[in-house]
Amino acid sequence: MGTSVSRLQRKPSSLLPVQEKECDIDRSTLTTSSQHSDPPTSLENSNYWLPKTYEEQDRLMGQHFAIKELFGGNVLQNAARVLPLDEGVMVLDEMATDYPNCEVYGIDIYPTYPQTIRPPNSVFMLADAIDGLPFADNSFDLVQVRLMVAAFKVEDWPRVIADCVRILKPGGVLQMIEPDYRDSGGGACQLLVRTLIQVCEQRGQNPRIGSCLETLMRRAGLLILDRMARELDHAHGGKLVAEWTYDWRSIAATSRPLFEQTIGLSGDKYTAFLKDIEPSMKQYHFKSFGYAVTGRKPMVL
Ligand SMILES: C[S@@+](CC[C@H](N)C(=O)[O-])C[C@H]1O[C@@H](n2cnc3c(N)ncnc32)[C@H](O)[C@@H]1O
Repeated sequence: MGTSVSRLQRKPSSLLPVQEKECDIDRSTLTTSSQHSDPPTSLENSNYWLPKTYEEQDRLMGQHFAIKELFGGNVLQNAARVLPLDEGVMVLDEMATDYPNCEVYGIDIYPTYPQTIRPPNSVFMLADAIDGLPFADNSFDLVQVRLMVAAFKVEDWPRVIADCVRILKPGGVLQMIEPDYRDSGGGACQLLVRTLIQVCEQRGQNPRIGSCLETLMRRAGLLILDRMARELDHAHGGKLVAEWTYDWRSIAATSRPLFEQTIGLSGDKYTAFLKDIEPSMKQYHFKSFGYAVTGRKPMVL
């Protein structure tokens, strides 16, 4: 990890996983007062609410590199140790360039992946993970599920994880990386994270899913290899903080139509809110939280 990662502060007390019951299908822990009981969705039959614009694709690309830096690579350390990634294994993810000897599959409900210019060792398939992964049992050495907080409902997570375990070979690894959206800071940055929490909860999603990953993976029978909890204080300087501050501001910009409606701010007021995000993060010591966990499928389940 680079020097900027050392700015991350490990504070075990605030990074302890949430109470186990918060990871269950207990809607009472998720329901908050909401201004809009019938929120719009971005795709018919899909719960996914982040936009599919070029700006959002750019944000996700930047976020990909910020995640890599935050967790020290594309595959967490202990998982990389048990998988012969350089020799080539079967991967369900988007790591084709990092591991040219691997056969890499990726799925999405949108046809976002380029059909012509793409690494030759990658295959993209249109599929909805909630309907069941379109792969045979015991197919993959590594499966990654990442940044699906805005896609899966609380009750989808155990089903999707069980399906990942099904398609993993015995001894294969599931890697999961998700944020933990928690109330933090003050002013514009606090309004932003509260809006994200509200939008997730309105859709039956768990904004704190990052802190539930380990519990859910253990319950699915996986043997935990890596667990990394990261807390980033946006009042600190450095490249990593700058990347994540940019990501927060970008999500507010790319999700503007939905957030304007949720917050009840529009036009110049929303533009002023966007401008205030970065200074308020510094002023109020806004904190971002993220979790990365890997778990191995036992040789005999
Ligand atoms: C925030 S992006 C993360 C993309 C990628 N996993 C990453 O880590 O960069 C979430 C992606 O999941 C896709 N998605 C949403 N719901 C899905 C579902 N039910 N099954 C498969 N993909 C889904 C979205 O279209 C979007 O491209």
